[in-house]
Amino acid sequence: MSSPAAPTASPLSAHRNGPLRGRVRPPGDKSISHRAFLFGLLTRGLTRIEGLLEGEDVLRTGEACRALGATISRLGEGRWTVAGPGLGSLVAPRNGLDFGNAGTGSRLMMGVVGGHPITAVFDGDASLRKRPMRRILDPLRLMGAQVVSEGEGGRCPITLRGADEPAPILYRTPVASAQIKSAVLLSGLNARGHTTVIESEASRDHTEKMLTHFGAEVHVETEGEGRRITLVGRPELRPNPVFVPADPSSAAFPIVAALIVPGSDIVVEGVMMNSLRSGLLTTLLEMGARIETLDLRVEGGEDVADLRVRASDLVGVDVPAARAPSMIDEYPILAVAAAFAKGTTRMRGLHELRVKESDRLTAVAAGLKAAGVAHEIEGDDLIVEGGAPVGGGMVETHLDHRIAMSFLVMGMASAKPMQVDDSLTIATSFPTFQSLMQGLGAKFA
Ligand code: S3P
Repeated sequence: MSSPAAPTASPLSAHRNGPLRGRVRPPGDKSISHRAFLFGLLTRGLTRIEGLLEGEDVLRTGEACRALGATISRLGEGRWTVAGPGLGSLVAPRNGLDFGNAGTGSRLMMGVVGGHPITAVFDGDASLRKRPMRRILDPLRLMGAQVVSEGEGGRCPITLRGADEPAPILYRTPVASAQIKSAVLLSGLNARGHTTVIESEASRDHTEKMLTHFGAEVHVETEGEGRRITLVGRPELRPNPVFVPADPSSAAFPIVAALIVPGSDIVVEGVMMNSLRSGLLTTLLEMGARIETLDLRVEGGEDVADLRVRASDLVGVDVPAARAPSMIDEYPILAVAAAFAKGTTRMRGLHELRVKESDRLTAVAAGLKAAGVAHEIEGDDLIVEGGAPVGGGMVETHLDHRIAMSFLVMGMASAKPMQVDDSLTIATSFPTFQSLMQGLGAKFA
């Protein structure tokens, strides 16, 4: 007897429902969670992880690490251990690696495989199959990896054969991308000599920090607006527990919801305040957001804080292109905040939004249109005319979790409800989104 097919889409709508109140802790940071599994794989011995994001993307990375020889166990909520074979001792996976929706997991794992003499097939869902991978494959080829086969335009499915003896290189990333930087550094781990990455604008630094945390020698220097990162290859990586702080990119949703739902007053706990991730907070404060930083402290090597957020009269601002790397995943939810602000918000330099889980520039514009919000795309800039969004629209999410969450947040404050065509993808990064928001007073149907 065949079992019923898994649902392929699950529409959801959000309705206005009085002020948001309460304290919440968003799930663990997605970037750090992927890396926690990968470093566990690359380190011989037992790595303990606390606060891991148990979202689909990260669990796919965990499965891939198992296929390369790691033994991974779940001890309790967010508490995991990884027993890694260690750098240089990975096994070739017997089957293809299915990364689902996970760009970060697949690209970082390409770096790991690229630096080992093993072959692996990388694939994922329809969204991942549209994303450009040559930006990762190009430097890996320079290090000696071979692309055995690839989909059209260098996309998944990709068969990658890692280098027998990876060459250390000096590489300038063509765009500010932590994924490119990380893939080169992870491949360089198994190279004899120094691997250097130069980025013209600083991107998130979790890989560098974790390399140091696990005992590798890494030198970071500023170079103009960017950075030069040098890794000494073939280190003796040592297990070191990883504590994962709350994801600022997930915290963004309750934060903006509280700002736009009249009368709201909430606290979002344990949010990572890493300056390379805090562009949205900077922008919201410029817009007049009432966000107070409480109990700034260091946890697991990162600054974290509790944020008290109250409903605010926002005003439109001009967001410089230079801020994009520190808030690259937050533009959809910023566009929602801008729709409720007085005046015009201009977000500059959003070209990288076109190659995320969806073409986010187009998806955000379509969502704004569905909500009756005046806006324009001018080159790489998005211009939003704020006011009081009418809502009442249906938004196509294109397998993009952040598009789904952003327009559900809009529906919590727009005159009429907002509907998204699919809420299942939210589980890739924020499986508790609906219950956490309902706990604050949100209403979904
Ligand atoms: C990530 C880097 C960013 C970001 C993604 C996570 C990472 O991508 O958008 O969600 O963990 O390294 P790019 O490197 O493509 O900018």
